[in-house]
Amino acid sequence: DRPVVVAIDGPSGSGKSTIARRVAAKLGLAYLDTGAMYRAATWWCEHRGVDLDDDDAVADAVRAMPLIMVTDPLFPQVVCDDQDITETIRSAAITAVVSAVATNLEVRGELKQRQRAEIDAERTGGRSDGRGIVAEGRDITTVVAPDADVRILLTADEDARLARRARERHGSVDAAHLAATRDEVLRRDRDDSTVSAFLTAADGVTTVDSSRLEVEETLDLVLGVVEDAR
Ligand code: C5P
Repeated sequence: DRPVVVAIDGPSGSGKSTIARRVAAKLGLAYLDTGAMYRAATWWCEHRGVDLDDDDAVADAVRAMPLIMVTDPLFPQVVCDDQDITETIRSAAITAVVSAVATNLEVRGELKQRQRAEIDAERTGGRSDGRGIVAEGRDITTVVAPDADVRILLTADEDARLARRARERHGSVDAAHLAATRDEVLRRDRDDSTVSAFLTAADGVTTVDSSRLEVEETLDLVLGVVEDAR
């Protein structure tokens, strides 16, 4: 088999990280979490004391960011400035401000280049076993890798996305936890969708709606789409 590139986009709470990782592990592919790169950029700016409202300073800092993405789907890691920030960047504090960094167009240009370099390294078989990569985010099917072999938009309705995030973050879906999750999911999607269109599928992109599906069912559907394309 020639190396395959699988692009998966979707809103927050659609299950795309879980599914992308599982697909990569199952097929022996590398896994790239591009959201983690925007989170790392946010962490790096704060770490360096850069004012997130200063677009030029943020862009300069991100261009100089010493970021290493470990793309093993069984143990993905984010290393920046020799620190393992894999867990740190999932904090509520980073989540609350990441969209501000991600809507900086200079930042997007820089990270797009780095994401393409990661994808190309796997596509040309220069690394791992040369079998390819699953990359997930908000603009992979449209901007970063519109030429991917497989392009999937993983969606889920608002209720399903809120319930998943509330359970993930707080362990239950009572009213208070749902309310606390609203900002993280709905506000962030609104802000993020001002720079990339991940709420509707672009031409040639297959939509998979996970609202009423268990993880295993979604995984089977996505694996089917990948198999059909190979
Ligand atoms: O997927 P995750 O929630 O970790 O993404 C964090 C943030 O990174 C998103 O809220 C969005 O602002 C940004 N992002 C992006 N483009 C991508 C992936 C993520 O703008 N391809």
